[in-house]
Amino acid sequence: MSSPITPVLTANWGTDRSWTLDAYTRQGGYQALAKALTKSPDEVVAAVKDSGLRGRGGAGFPTGMKWGFLPPYDEANPTPRYLVVNADESEPGTCKDIPLMMASPHTLVEGVIISSYAIRAKQAFIYVRGEVLHVIRRLRAAVAEAYAAGHLGPDSPAGVDLIVHAGAGAYICGEETALLDSLEGRRGQPRLRPPFPAVAGLYARPTVINNVESIASVPAIIGKGADWFASLGTEKSKGFVIYSLSGHVTRPGQYEAPLGITLRELLDLAGGVRHGHQLKFWTPGGSSTPILTDQHLDVPLDYEAVGAAGSMLGTRALQVFDETTCVVRAVLRWSEFYKHESCGKCTPCREGTWWLVQVLTRLENGQGNAADLDQLLDQCENIAGRSFCALGDGATSPVVSSIQHFRDEYLAHLEHGGCPFDAAASTAWA
Ligand code: NAI
Ligand code: SF4
Repeated sequence: MSSPITPVLTANWGTDRSWTLDAYTRQGGYQALAKALTKSPDEVVAAVKDSGLRGRGGAGFPTGMKWGFLPPYDEANPTPRYLVVNADESEPGTCKDIPLMMASPHTLVEGVIISSYAIRAKQAFIYVRGEVLHVIRRLRAAVAEAYAAGHLGPDSPAGVDLIVHAGAGAYICGEETALLDSLEGRRGQPRLRPPFPAVAGLYARPTVINNVESIASVPAIIGKGADWFASLGTEKSKGFVIYSLSGHVTRPGQYEAPLGITLRELLDLAGGVRHGHQLKFWTPGGSSTPILTDQHLDVPLDYEAVGAAGSMLGTRALQVFDETTCVVRAVLRWSEFYKHESCGKCTPCREGTWWLVQVLTRLENGQGNAADLDQLLDQCENIAGRSFCALGDGATSPVVSSIQHFRDEYLAHLEHGGCPFDAAASTAWA
């Protein structure tokens, strides 16, 4: 982490053994939990609503509103309800939840306890992607510390139990209903919504599913107040977030800042595009969000402005590409990812992502023909809006947006009989 503008979630990442309970407590950790427990659960929900916090997993759905969708709690006849943290971070370029869980797992654990208290859940789960063994170990160690300290457990003040569950490494298990199937021990494939998880989620019980960063933001909202949180960011996109900058950047990494900062400002913090090169294109929120170009450097990074610019804020995974990058090759790589990760449940995505890779491969290899661009756009039309979950839509984003912004570069692949970046020094061609 370098030069955070609003160090909140990342404030203590650099301190000695920041992941331990001891370090977290010395920095004021678990004081927000104590404060939350002086309020009623409904007051905590109201504070999260008032803060304007929107889901940090990509969709930006208002967190407090989601909590409010749970059926009313029947004190006389309580039935199970669950909190599930989506820690299956897998969107290409997204690298915020994993560093957060490594550097400050107790921020998440404290957020889980406060959030479970608010929605009156006695059992919570953190579903972590299976490949990140180091994160799973660190989280489990933090959970064990929290149990030993009396923050967790049936006899703790909030009475919450927390299980860290490891997935088996499938991108689709980040989709909330596929995650629930996987957590129940089944093959992870999306369920039909509605019913939304708030009504029928884990084991068909009311369930709140939130991203790691959303839940980790809750202690600061309770500790510093909903008004303080709402004073950061923009009118409709409140608060601070972690941006992951990767690719052709001088200092890639995580940068915490309010919503509404621009890529130009973030690049200033990150030392700019690597020395001697210029920005060509970038993603605001991973490869599932339409690419933008150097024309969009001053677009405020909030849900509304990025949407108006023709993309989506998504996970705020800012992948930066300079002029040496072949856009067709980049899009081909992303498309191979979606083809591989398509769960196969619905035909438009299962077949469509396969065809995208076929056409992009022949274009990149110099075997394309004049009809290929229309072919690609036609395939995207048959996937987007016709697929069962957001993976299909996301797979079309880089293809459609790259043709929109870089049609000439696609045509150059036809003219050159292959990738012009292979033929000469890429900068010379560009
Ligand atoms: P969505 O907009 O369909 O839903 C967002 C959340 O709001 C869900 O939890 C849903 O249950 C809830 N919700 C929406 N309408 C509701 C209603 N009427 N009643 C109750 N609850 C309701 O978005 P989705 O499909 O869950 O997520 C797509 C997003 O995920 C994309 O925008 C993408 O950026 C992001 N994504 C993130 C990844 C990561 O690694 N963090 C990976 C892939 C995609
Ligand atoms: Fe599976 Fe793709 Fe259909 Fe989603 S869109 S259900 S990932 S095949």
